[in-house]
Amino acid sequence: MEIKAIRGFNDILPQEIGKWHFVEDTARNVFHGFGFSELRIPVIERTDLFARGIGEATDIVEKEMYTFTDKGGNSLTLRPEATASMARAYLEHQMYSFDPVAKVYFMGPMFRYERPQKGRYRQFYQIDAEVFGVDNPMVDAEIIVMLMHFLRKVGLQTLELQINSLGCRECRPRYREELKRFFEKKTFQLCEDCQRRLHTNPLRILDCKVEGCKESIANAPRVIDFICSNCKEHFARVKEYLTVTGVKFDVNPNMVRGLDYYTRTCFEVVSYDLGSQNAVTGGGRYDNLFQEIGGLDIPGIGFAIGMERLISLLPKDRTFIQTPHLFIATLGNEASKEAYQLANELHLRGIRTELDYEGKSLKSQMRRAGKLNASYVLILGGDELNQGKAVLRNMGDKSQEEVPLKDLATLLQSKLPRL
Ligand code: HAM
Repeated sequence: MEIKAIRGFNDILPQEIGKWHFVEDTARNVFHGFGFSELRIPVIERTDLFARGIGEATDIVEKEMYTFTDKGGNSLTLRPEATASMARAYLEHQMYSFDPVAKVYFMGPMFRYERPQKGRYRQFYQIDAEVFGVDNPMVDAEIIVMLMHFLRKVGLQTLELQINSLGCRECRPRYREELKRFFEKKTFQLCEDCQRRLHTNPLRILDCKVEGCKESIANAPRVIDFICSNCKEHFARVKEYLTVTGVKFDVNPNMVRGLDYYTRTCFEVVSYDLGSQNAVTGGGRYDNLFQEIGGLDIPGIGFAIGMERLISLLPKDRTFIQTPHLFIATLGNEASKEAYQLANELHLRGIRTELDYEGKSLKSQMRRAGKLNASYVLILGGDELNQGKAVLRNMGDKSQEEVPLKDLATLLQSKLPRL
């Protein structure tokens, strides 16, 4: 039986990879420009890190983690997100002793056992950025400005930035109680999951997409009306700093996010071109996470961009496929040997060169060059070859010229301005 990939786990094929490289390169450039450095984390961590960091009563920890026991009897988990791991690394390597402020980013696959559908996979890629060590609202705005700048740079235009404040350790419990009281009166309208959430994590009810629940959520008390004066002031300043930089946003008072570590500012970037899985990016502040995972009292804020969703939104008129600069078409054995030498030299100079390996007819070689979308074809063979020359065909305007083979690389470099 033919073995296929696992449902929810995707291959990224060569004709797609150009988009990924473009997005990753742009992220690196933008993030470096904002003073961020890469921090690479392992694929697997101790299960406890996510259980304590993300929260026992979240969907991720309750139902979606790929957890297994290794041969030493340790419970390990494939990372479902990057924030907890990055915080662990920051603590473990005492990065704060070098400088209390760390601006770090990471790109790589995450794993969640969710029901696969368009825009939702079991292995998916995130670009993640975090700032550790600052609770000043300036940083909340700064990281959002960086995110929006990046999204604009890759060509995404019709996006909506939604923000909210989730309060802090002081004011959230009061809201939680209020929410519980509100939904207790509506238990019969809630789905089975939300009836359970009512006791474990009532805030999660606000995120439920089941119709019956959505109706009762519409009139639920809003966190923004319950946050303390410090949190209100923090949120007001985040909005002020965003306004100063010209970043447009909407306050979405129902946004609660799916991970428990959030405090104060949270945000999402949504696209209405995405269908039901419409969040391209999610993020927020998490001032208690470090303590939850056994560390110091260190504030943090960050975001993660879903790469698959982002890539599906890239402008369709851009081509990201890497095509050959040159195809060498040959006539006869001598020409074929010469082509091998030439191709080697050109490869060393970074000129993408393809040739025929199968002794095909000139016609069929030209057909292949066209299919591969080569910029130029060098036709090698006959009398010209003996004179150290060949015919170079521009596949764009179909013009042809005789060119010397000596120092062909320099000639091609002058014709291919982007090299
Ligand atoms: P999250 O909202 O769970 O947040 O995920 C962030 C983004 O990852 C989502 O907006 C979405 O684009 C993408 N994503 C999530 N799950 C899937 C999936 N199953 N398939 C495809 N894409 C998906 C976090 O992960 C937080 N760690 C973000 C953060 C960083 N908060 C602070 N720092």
